[in-house]
Amino acid sequence: MKLELVDVWHVYSPGTEFEVAALRGVSLSVESGEILGVVGGTGSGKSTLAQHMNLLLTPTRGRVLVDGVDAAAMRKRDLRRRVGLVFQFPEQALFAPTVEEDVAFAPRQLGLGEDEIRRRVQNSLEAVGASHLTGRFPHALSGGERRRVAIAGILAMEPEVLVLDEPTAGLDPAAREDLLGLVSRFRDESRSVVLISHDLDEVAEVADRVCVLEKGEVRAVGTPAEVFYENLDVAPATVRVVSELHGVYPDLGRPVRFGETLQALRGLLEA
Ligand SMILES: Nc1ncnc2c1ncn2[C@@H]1O[C@H](COP(=O)(O)OP(=O)(O)OP(=O)(O)O)[C@@H](O)[C@H]1O
Ligand SMILES: [Mg+2]
Repeated sequence: MKLELVDVWHVYSPGTEFEVAALRGVSLSVESGEILGVVGGTGSGKSTLAQHMNLLLTPTRGRVLVDGVDAAAMRKRDLRRRVGLVFQFPEQALFAPTVEEDVAFAPRQLGLGEDEIRRRVQNSLEAVGASHLTGRFPHALSGGERRRVAIAGILAMEPEVLVLDEPTAGLDPAAREDLLGLVSRFRDESRSVVLISHDLDEVAEVADRVCVLEKGEVRAVGTPAEVFYENLDVAPATVRVVSELHGVYPDLGRPVRFGETLQALRGLLEA
């Protein structure tokens, strides 16, 4: 699926003293089979952007297109099934008496049969490494466990596009690795992921393209190498190190990922 935002504006509380133009003419596409990283400072509009991807928020101006069709004309239910949105701090929204029931909630709304629901619940919990939590009470789980369960609830919809708003914030390194593995598998299945994150290293590691938001506008979008080497203030440590060395060693190229960067530096030391 190709998801596009065309000149999207979003104004909160228009006409009041609290009026905020959180998005100002954002145009952006998410291609099928790609991981799009979205970075930007606090208040730059990332969560607002995320909520436009399944029209949980309606653009004040502009359009959202799904395979070229205006998403506003689609049934909300179909749109939300195809574009799964995991909120920032989704664990706050768990409500069912057991983990299993919580994850089953959305697929049940789709009117699926019990066998299919059970299959999806099992698969989704397995995908986030939470199968062992099935019968537990969500509110008696740790923060990281709850986060996994909340993500499983969206995976159970089997969306084509998965929008993750700061999914790894506050997770330990192992849980973070697990989640990035899940994101990569999504791409391998030709589905797409929008990964919103403050962690530039993790974006550098998995993203195919990166978008930098600033004050509600797209400041840059392109491959990680293009974006990071031209916007060093939002670049991960790997890029900043190589960039510092470029003056003396222009042949280092533009590595972004940790492994690539290490290889480039090793080549330099051996030469
Ligand atoms: N419900 C709301 N009502 C009014 N203004 C809002 C609302 N939600 C967000 N805003 C404002 O819109 C702007 C963008 O907020 P948003 O939550 O999209 O930023 P963000 O990039 O996700 O920030 P963070 O990195 O802190 O999560 C901010 O100025 C914020 O104060
Ligand atoms: Mg946010």
